[in-house]
Amino acid sequence: MPITSTPLGPTTGLEITGLHGRALVDRDVAAECAAALERYGVVVYRDADIADDDLVAFSALLGDVVPLAMGGHERREIQKITRDASQSKLAAYREATFFWHIDGTTDSVPNKSTLLTARQVSDDGSGDTEFANTYAAYEALPEREKEELADLRVVHSFAASQSLVYPDPSPKERAAWDKVPAREHPLVWTRRSGRRSLLIGATAGEIVGRPAAAGRALLDRLLDWATRPEFTVRHRWRPGDLVIWDNTGMLHRAQPYAETSRRLMHRTSLAGEEAVA
Ligand code: OGA
Ligand code: MN
Repeated sequence: MPITSTPLGPTTGLEITGLHGRALVDRDVAAECAAALERYGVVVYRDADIADDDLVAFSALLGDVVPLAMGGHERREIQKITRDASQSKLAAYREATFFWHIDGTTDSVPNKSTLLTARQVSDDGSGDTEFANTYAAYEALPEREKEELADLRVVHSFAASQSLVYPDPSPKERAAWDKVPAREHPLVWTRRSGRRSLLIGATAGEIVGRPAAAGRALLDRLLDWATRPEFTVRHRWRPGDLVIWDNTGMLHRAQPYAETSRRLMHRTSLAGEEAVA
């Protein structure tokens, strides 16, 4: 079967067809994937139908695979993403993925990439995944605004993202969220390569040195900007699809799916290679 690759939108996303299972576990395929991630932020392998061991092996060709806590899978590298509490101890936290976010923003070195493959999809068409390219969004800002943002710092916390789902936490819930230490990062992440992106999303709670409401307003405005259609791509899952994204520059979110949904993803993550600076 011929291999095709098709850009998915004006700035973001590349879809590749014709690569399945074992064929993905190949140095050249991984090198092309890494190059495509750099250029498009999101790579979709349609109908990849990749087995768990091959998913881990392919991930290892792309970077350092990190063991994932409470994955619910016999392989420590794989985490089950589902709202079904009988399959995952983290099911209750999945609702937070319905809000635009970047994974690991409370770490000093956020994960480089995430790989997600669909084992089962919802029956009712719910649970698409959307991505928003914060390199492209930053790049397209007016120069004056880039200057205004240059020195701002943002506090990221688990509590900020949970409070989107549960706006009225009990003191006990609040205390549990606050056990995850918050972290301050620059609003604009400048890579060693010179590339810049916006570090925003659900975990971004406040701007350092600004009154809460003013900080919130700026963060909301930037999120609206970064998630405009020209910077986003939406993936409608078919069982077997494999989607990989540059977690450092792609906001992402799941479209809501029910607690009773059959939707089940197997996920691996790659360790970050660059601290936020
Ligand atoms: C994640 C995530 C989105 C989805 O696994 O980090 O945000 O569509 N998943 O399941
Ligand atoms: Mn996520």
